[in-house]
Amino acid sequence: MERKWWHGKTAYQIYPKSFYDTNGDGIGDLRGVIEKLDYLQELGVEIVWLSPCYCSPLADQGYDISDYYNIDPRFGTMADMEELIEKGRAHGISIVMDLVVNHCSDEHEWFRKACEDPDGPFGQFFYIRDWHEGEKLPCNLRSYFGGPCWDLLPGHTDKIYFHAFHKKQPDLNWENPALRKVVYKMINWWLDKGLGGFRIDAIINIKKLLPFRDFPADRDDGLCRFKTMLAEAKGVNVFLAEMANETFHRHDAFSVGEVFDEKEEDLPLIIGDNGYFSSMFDFSEKLIGMDARGWYAWKMPTAEEYKKAAFEAQAKSAGVGFYSNIIENHDEPRGVSHYLPEGENSDAAKKMLGGLNFMLRGLPFLYQGQEIGMENTVFTTPEQFDDINTLHEYQVALNAGLTPGEALAAVARVSRDNARTPFQWSADENAGFSSGTPWLPVNPNYREINLASQRGRPDSVYEFYRQLTALRKSVEWAETVVYGETVPYLAEQENLMAYFRKGERTLLVAGNFQNEAQSMFLPTTVKEVLINNLNCFDADAGSLRLGPWQFVVLAL
Ligand code: GLC
Ligand code: CA
Repeated sequence: MERKWWHGKTAYQIYPKSFYDTNGDGIGDLRGVIEKLDYLQELGVEIVWLSPCYCSPLADQGYDISDYYNIDPRFGTMADMEELIEKGRAHGISIVMDLVVNHCSDEHEWFRKACEDPDGPFGQFFYIRDWHEGEKLPCNLRSYFGGPCWDLLPGHTDKIYFHAFHKKQPDLNWENPALRKVVYKMINWWLDKGLGGFRIDAIINIKKLLPFRDFPADRDDGLCRFKTMLAEAKGVNVFLAEMANETFHRHDAFSVGEVFDEKEEDLPLIIGDNGYFSSMFDFSEKLIGMDARGWYAWKMPTAEEYKKAAFEAQAKSAGVGFYSNIIENHDEPRGVSHYLPEGENSDAAKKMLGGLNFMLRGLPFLYQGQEIGMENTVFTTPEQFDDINTLHEYQVALNAGLTPGEALAAVARVSRDNARTPFQWSADENAGFSSGTPWLPVNPNYREINLASQRGRPDSVYEFYRQLTALRKSVEWAETVVYGETVPYLAEQENLMAYFRKGERTLLVAGNFQNEAQSMFLPTTVKEVLINNLNCFDADAGSLRLGPWQFVVLAL
């Protein structure tokens, strides 16, 4: 495997709207990110991915872009963005933006022009079809946010357009070379500005099975899940290769794909040397327990399932490339609320989960607030949901016969809003996030969980994450932590997740994934305890006794 400039770094995702608000309008902004660069550096972060901050009506919180060349005034100005790139560099931090090009906003100029003249050049930027009242739609795919993928083209009664997500997110027609050209131009424009790269949104959806046709319905609504079509649509690789060659590769930019359901044989094409992307997220843990019927039927993962998924992903990517490893992002519940059993939210357990994930081979990606152990928030009524997908899934749960109370509880566990509550900086009003009214209420637990109370306290979750980022950078251990092979250890021992990292040296990483002590066999003597989330360490020849939720990184 070729060595890349970004391999040894720690990455961090910022959801700008909820990070830090500097002007009191309740919305986090780019100046807020600039002000926190010192903080990010202190944490040991060297790549920052910003969720979208382009002009947008925010129908899907910025994943509906109306102008790729401008910053939404709610987030700041282009001058702020340039300053952030510049000052980021001075802090040793590369700034990465979100690239949302499966679709744009229905308020984008391209779509407006397509509505004005569907037969003109911009009509070809989208999937527009003739249709008359009472006629069958071109296909029965269900959009990700519910309902059919087709809606009437604004201003017309006999034309419809295609959207995989919300109706305010019309899909761009990647079959059209003219569209691809303007997309690549835009990407290069940003990279020329000094941007470090992109996280590429929902990219696997850009290839449609054409002509559109029906699939067997999988719910009473007569529709079929989008994934069914994706499995049959061939040729996305051609687009991805072209995009990479025209853009990322020319700049040696970092790129990380939001890729689901990749075929194993495609992995080298996606993240191998000269892959379409530098890296892609490992979503295999997130997919545990998911159910095609909807969020309400989602089964929470067990320790054994988590371990199995992580080890499989490690094996798949071994010798091929780097997955980006996460326990959460802006589309998921908080990792500590999802992967740990209900009620188990001690600092020790949080550190164990974070440590096991961070030490895997690949690029560790932290999500804002993870480093202080932020948890899912509390919902008592559906009106508290902001996210369109959560509102949709709440409806799905009701349709399936759940009572309102059951539906609320079922979707609250996995709502995307959980990760979107403001960052908890301190115990001050609004968790120190804003002097105004936050756009989404802060998690009521901010008085107990916040950065100010953890910074400098050696046993805090925050200082634990700093130890992890420091180990990844240390002269002595970096080579092994970054490039060492992952070798699962005692994989059959229940509620124990242990693995070696074997490179220049050998490390043993072990986490006791339960609230009771357990012993494990030690293959050799321990030279040094590099990281330990408890104050005790109990080992002798051949045996290591781990306390509840204990996590250790040992030099052997
Ligand atoms: C990705 C984003 C998600 C968004 C969707 C549509 O999955 O992460 O937030 O809703 O794409 O752009
Ligand atoms: Ca603001």
